[in-house]
Amino acid sequence: MAEPKKLFIKTYGCQMNVYDSERMAEALGGQGYVETQSADDADMILLNTCHIREKAAEKVYSELGRFKGLKAAKPDLKIGVAGCVAQAEGEEIMRRQPMVDLVVGPQSYHRLPELEARAGGGAKALDTDFPEEDKFERLKSRPKSARGPTAFLTVQEGCDKFCAFCVVPYTRGAEVSRPAERVLSEARDLVERGVREITLLGQNVNAYHGAGGDGDWSLARLIRELAKVDGLERIRFTTSHPNDMDDELIAAHGEVDKLMPYLHLPVQSGSDRILKRMNRKHTSESYIRLIERIRAARPDILMSGDFIVGFPEETEEDFAATMALVEEVRYGQCYSFKYSSRPGTPAAERALVDPAAADDRLHRLQALLTRQQREIQDAMVGRETRVLFEREGRVAGQMAGKSEHLHAVHVTADGIARGDLRRVRITESNPNSLSAVLV
Ligand code: 5AD
Ligand code: SF4
Repeated sequence: MAEPKKLFIKTYGCQMNVYDSERMAEALGGQGYVETQSADDADMILLNTCHIREKAAEKVYSELGRFKGLKAAKPDLKIGVAGCVAQAEGEEIMRRQPMVDLVVGPQSYHRLPELEARAGGGAKALDTDFPEEDKFERLKSRPKSARGPTAFLTVQEGCDKFCAFCVVPYTRGAEVSRPAERVLSEARDLVERGVREITLLGQNVNAYHGAGGDGDWSLARLIRELAKVDGLERIRFTTSHPNDMDDELIAAHGEVDKLMPYLHLPVQSGSDRILKRMNRKHTSESYIRLIERIRAARPDILMSGDFIVGFPEETEEDFAATMALVEEVRYGQCYSFKYSSRPGTPAAERALVDPAAADDRLHRLQALLTRQQREIQDAMVGRETRVLFEREGRVAGQMAGKSEHLHAVHVTADGIARGDLRRVRITESNPNSLSAVLV
């Protein structure tokens, strides 16, 4: 039997890329590839890229530069670029990096086997179309292999919101939801393979409106049906837009036990003037009222968010409004970024804030967010929660997993296996994790 070919995939950016990389590995499995953890022995290298900020996009070119030697030593090596940089800069990548054999955009992954067959030996393959067909249904999977206890499941892709700073509507295209039955059958399949927690993914996941047997289903309806799947213990979803957080979904947070008390709900800024310029279509006040309603349904929910500082024309006063919003909401987890101008987006035309001022604001915001995160984490000490154990910890005899609120928790005890869901009491709050004992 021929040796299997080796595939090395490196994934950048969001969780949707993680899901896509898994699907691409499965698709290339049909072409005789098995995954390897090192680029050095690979027959094919695939970079699954992110275009959200300039720095993320630049990484692709520096990473490709590092593969020059490998390609020289092994001319048969195929190098591919997938993801949002492929979508946005496919032709330019081919021009700047002649070693690249294949470029595939996020909507064309189901064509990867055919592209792989076509590329190499000097031949190039490029596909950055937005085809009509459902790529996930066209991706042929390998025989079912066992899975770890947690998995991502993309249910919705693309975005119609057009925030003024964001490339997603251009790289991922218009909002599309997968039919509900397909999602349910993929979830059942994951559970049969050992998965106990599923995170539903979408760029605007709470705008989900997938076809069901009786009209379109909302995300809340999908979650309620998923909760009926035996063996599936936990459901999460990300990322959500405030304007799509409807009453039904808020109610589900109070009523569906399997839906975890964690919500990532980016607001980006606390200044109404900036929110308007960002085309967010909500105010800081409406966001705060929304969180009040969510907390009324599920009082212990942990709020997470995204912020951009230094958006064009942001003043010190606008930034103060962002700090005030953070003080009011109290976040358990946050991501904050300095504005990065993205070619082709409306905000790219506008004058930049002084970079030193933007850096300074980012530092001040991050100090506040870190303090809040730490306070909320510290407040878990003494409380009981359930942990889904995912892997061995760094210390011998230790197992690590996630709490309901998505805190990393580790426990030193005998008899805990990967995939176990156990009740624990939190005993200590460390810089990036919690210690606990079984109860
Ligand atoms: N500059 C900085 N941050 C950005 N994000 C999206 N586009 C940009 C940009 N041009 C951030 C937003 C979004 C997160 C995924 O990335 O906060 O919610
Ligand atoms: Fe980008 Fe805004 Fe869509 Fe989120 S909602 S993906 S930030 S355009």
